[in-house]
Amino acid sequence: MTGRQRPIPLCGGIVNISTIPQRSPFRYPGGKTWLIPRIRQWLRYRRPSVLVEPFTGGGIVGLTAVFEGLVDHTIFAEIDDEVAAVWSTILEGGSEWLAGRILSFDLNIDNVRDLLLRTPCDTAEKAFQTIVRNRTHHGGILAPGSSLTKRGENGKGLGQRWYAKTLAQRVRAIGSQRHRFTFLHGDGIEVMKSHATDPQTAFFIDPPYTAGTTEDGSKRAGSRLYRHHEVDHKHLFAVACNSVGDVLLTYDDTPEIREIANLHTFVVKRVAMQNTHNTKLSELLIGRDLSWFRPSLTQQEFFS
Ligand SMILES: C[S@@+](CC[C@H](N)C(=O)[O-])C[C@H]1O[C@@H](n2cnc3c(N)ncnc32)[C@H](O)[C@@H]1O
Repeated sequence: MTGRQRPIPLCGGIVNISTIPQRSPFRYPGGKTWLIPRIRQWLRYRRPSVLVEPFTGGGIVGLTAVFEGLVDHTIFAEIDDEVAAVWSTILEGGSEWLAGRILSFDLNIDNVRDLLLRTPCDTAEKAFQTIVRNRTHHGGILAPGSSLTKRGENGKGLGQRWYAKTLAQRVRAIGSQRHRFTFLHGDGIEVMKSHATDPQTAFFIDPPYTAGTTEDGSKRAGSRLYRHHEVDHKHLFAVACNSVGDVLLTYDDTPEIREIANLHTFVVKRVAMQNTHNTKLSELLIGRDLSWFRPSLTQQEFFS
């Protein structure tokens, strides 16, 4: 066994993920960077040629899959206009313009306010506004009601998340591989249906989840994190179940979701991870067959 294949011992199933390459221009609420070691495990085992990510958001799974050669092509779908503007701009030839706009922006409170009050004249300008909003609002939240981090999280200032050079580099890197991505602005479930008969296509499904209640009886976070948070989960499971290619879904662990999964004879596994802020996270992984899942990760799965 080589060093890279040797399993990394996990303490309580938890590893810290600060070494996962950040490839997305977004800091996305509910983003799945922490799941990347499992995604590597899954795709290396299944070896699909195409990955569909029907609820793209920051798209870290689809980006990683292409950049690490785990699939030949990723198809992204996203319904939100602003998020979609970013993906279409980068993947339809506007990456150089967007990178330049990021590098030349003087980020201060007056310029941010002025920019975000303007009605964008085209999709590219909307993409730029979205990146600025995402990087300067609490938790990267783009949904109505989110607010500017005037003092920054931890008092570090408005520009705490504005790394212009790094962002421009990510935008350019994605743009340079745009022939390996397709972006569709619309309903991800419809996109899943149109690829349902292809055995070489796998689906990574990470929808907003707001049904059910939290332990204290309040509404789930999805309703304040995303502008579009209503999804017919039963229908989504049915479409996933009818797809010939492999599917991997992630959800909050609730009795409702376990029941729907069970109805479709899916298996579930609860996974735990620790993010870069040492926050412990756990979610359900759901699929037809999770035999690819091994409790420990190899160096290669962990460090790519
Ligand atoms: C949980 S987030 C995805 C986060 C993503 N996995 C990441 O790592 O950044 C869910 C996303 O689904 C989008 N969405 C909601 N309904 C949708 C639909 N019907 N079709 C496509 N996207 C949808 C939301 O706008 C949001 O961006």
